[in-house]
Amino acid sequence: MDAVLGGVLDPDDWDNFRTQSHQMLDDMIDHLQTLRQRPVWQPAPEAIRQRFKSPLPKGETALSVLHAEFMQYILPFAVGNTHPGFMGWVHGGGTPVGMVAEMLAAGLNANLGGRNQIPLEVERQIIDWMRQLFALPEPTSGVLVAGTSSASLIALTTARNRAQEQGIPTDTLVAYASSEVHGCIARALDVIGLGRGALRKVACNGQQQIDLLSLQQQIAEDRAQGKSPWLVVGCAGTVNTGAIDDLAALSAIAQREQLWLHIDGAFGALSILAPEIAPRLRGIEMADSLAMDFHKWGQVPYDAGLVLIRDGALHQRSFAATDSYLQRETHGLAANTPWPCDYGIDLSRGFRALKVWFTLKAFGSEKLGAMISHCCQLARELEQLVSDHPQLELAAPVSLNIVCFYHTGSEIRSHTDDDPLTPEQLNALNRAIVRHIQCSGLAAPSLATVAGRSVIRAAIVNHRTRSEDIIRLIDATEAAAIAYQIPTHRSTS
Ligand SMILES: Cc1ncc(COP(=O)(O)O)c(C=O)c1O
Repeated sequence: MDAVLGGVLDPDDWDNFRTQSHQMLDDMIDHLQTLRQRPVWQPAPEAIRQRFKSPLPKGETALSVLHAEFMQYILPFAVGNTHPGFMGWVHGGGTPVGMVAEMLAAGLNANLGGRNQIPLEVERQIIDWMRQLFALPEPTSGVLVAGTSSASLIALTTARNRAQEQGIPTDTLVAYASSEVHGCIARALDVIGLGRGALRKVACNGQQQIDLLSLQQQIAEDRAQGKSPWLVVGCAGTVNTGAIDDLAALSAIAQREQLWLHIDGAFGALSILAPEIAPRLRGIEMADSLAMDFHKWGQVPYDAGLVLIRDGALHQRSFAATDSYLQRETHGLAANTPWPCDYGIDLSRGFRALKVWFTLKAFGSEKLGAMISHCCQLARELEQLVSDHPQLELAAPVSLNIVCFYHTGSEIRSHTDDDPLTPEQLNALNRAIVRHIQCSGLAAPSLATVAGRSVIRAAIVNHRTRSEDIIRLIDATEAAAIAYQIPTHRSTS
């Protein structure tokens, strides 16, 4: 029986499998090489959606058939962030190098929860590279995670534990961040039991940075009311506009007020690789914790994030896996402690580190820094095009790689008369423009709300994006606004 079933999931015919696999690799390389020939994104027809409602198959399907299904029904209907025209949310473009590294990692199928294996050294090297990049001290610990949301959860759990060790009642803890902070912070507060109400959202200045005076007033008010100011979040690149808080000033306040300084550097932290941006991140070296992603500006295929924590011992105390089945030894497979599972939530973990390691080594910090500078240069080009355009207006200062703008509605009249559009109609117009551009396949910005206004948001994160893509976005915006004026479109869009 064993002779029949042993290795039952390996190919019967390895030569066949090899040929088929090479075809799959070739197809994917062709796809990446010819991205510009396709729409950025296209909606999937309902019939294709329905294909994914079929029951769990009982029998086998040939790999060649699955590959054909992938090529026909899945590949054309992904989100499109590999495409140079993708500018929505904050999505990295990935690289062919990352793709093949991911395949090698899957082939190895290593579980990086722990154990005595070199893949852990790969992850440790990345953590140490990042520790040095951000000038954090030696005892800093870290762990690779799915993304900044998970990284922030680990950081805030550790910060809460420090407060608990100090005997501060958990129900008095309050955290501070700018009103532009990403939602993952409130969610982390919820998950660790403090609740979203523990977050004080502080007003921003004209540069969309946390207003330092308002922050200090809020801290004083909270102290007066018997609360325990506990943590402040510094944004190294806000999700809406890419603003970088004054991290040095925040760290001075954090030290004076004895607050934990957590920095959300989801995409912005890596801009330290761009020499002209690095000075704006001064203060990041004072972080108690830093959450960041490689899958955004690092161009590593999804998913790969990192948390770094200055007090490595506290970090380990917060997550150490002490169960008997995870006991450590000095030799053998259970050696090589501490393990990544001692620093995070996941026990079973894939070899995420490999695609990060390949990416950082294949391109090096200088080329990655130049790519980040280029994205910011493109953002400035877009800013200029918007400023020069008679019907478009900037919605926020462009401080990094994100441009938020809106159509002013001039030359577009309200549905019923010749009056200028109301604020609600203007918001509807800009929402419709974003949808229209996305459906056109020419570009893919996303929608944001800035100062209560619905705006078109272009985040230039993709290393493939060029000036021509920026111009195409403006052209697509104009075309969308014209389409909106046609009554039939207006009522359906
Ligand atoms: C500033 C910021 N923080 C946090 C996040 C969440 O990161 P992730 O999606 O990797 O969990 C994002 C995602 O875009 C972000 O832009």
